[in-house]
Amino acid sequence: MRLIGKKRLVLLVASLAVAGCDAPQPSDADIQRSIAIADEFQSRLQSKLGRALQNGGPTNAIAVCAEAAPAIAEQISAETGATLRRISLRPRNPGAETIGELRERLMALAAKPTDADGNPALDNWVDRRGDAATHYTMRAIIMKDQPCAACHGTEIKPDVRAAIDERYPDDQATGFRAGELRGAMLIALPRKAPGEK
Ligand code: HEC
Repeated sequence: MRLIGKKRLVLLVASLAVAGCDAPQPSDADIQRSIAIADEFQSRLQSKLGRALQNGGPTNAIAVCAEAAPAIAEQISAETGATLRRISLRPRNPGAETIGELRERLMALAAKPTDADGNPALDNWVDRRGDAATHYTMRAIIMKDQPCAACHGTEIKPDVRAAIDERYPDDQATGFRAGELRGAMLIALPRKAPGEK
């Protein structure tokens, strides 16, 4: 019998609950790869955001975030061959909006943003189209008080509000409380279907 670690088991049960028993799953190696890609994105963005907040507060950091987030996603896509994006049920950037199945998956994540160990919840699945397959990992992004609340929280200062409105007139991404699902990272790894090399 293969030994299954506690974390893997929780993951497995969580994904079975969402996807049903016969749905194909990405390999553990691919899931770990996607997690590493999500970590890399978050650490690069957080260091930019942290510096911008120190240098000029949230109003200044909004401009930095607006340009850095898509640029970092593009850099990492070019480095790894994966596609990554941030998605949300209440997006700031309209490009983060989701519809259909993806939205349903995100709603399931919002209902349970952390796993049994308190880590951001994951949802993993495989999408097959003919010979091609894409391995998806969606990882929860949890709202925190620091530093997130200044720009996504329940009380946004007027100058910050104005800076947000200037760039994002359709912003829906305020009013979040610590511990809630702010959004998710979606990592897509292009793969061949089984039997192909
Ligand atoms: C300085 C203001 C600021 C702070 C602080 C901030 N954000 Fe954001 N956030 C933004 C902006 C601006 C965008 C839109 C970026 C873009 O256009 O891609 C954004 C987008 C996002 C998105 C992508 C989905 C969407 O709504 O467009 C997520 C998820 C997110 N933020 C989570 C967080 C979390 C979690 C924190 C705390 C660790 C945080 N943010 C802190 C300004 C901020």
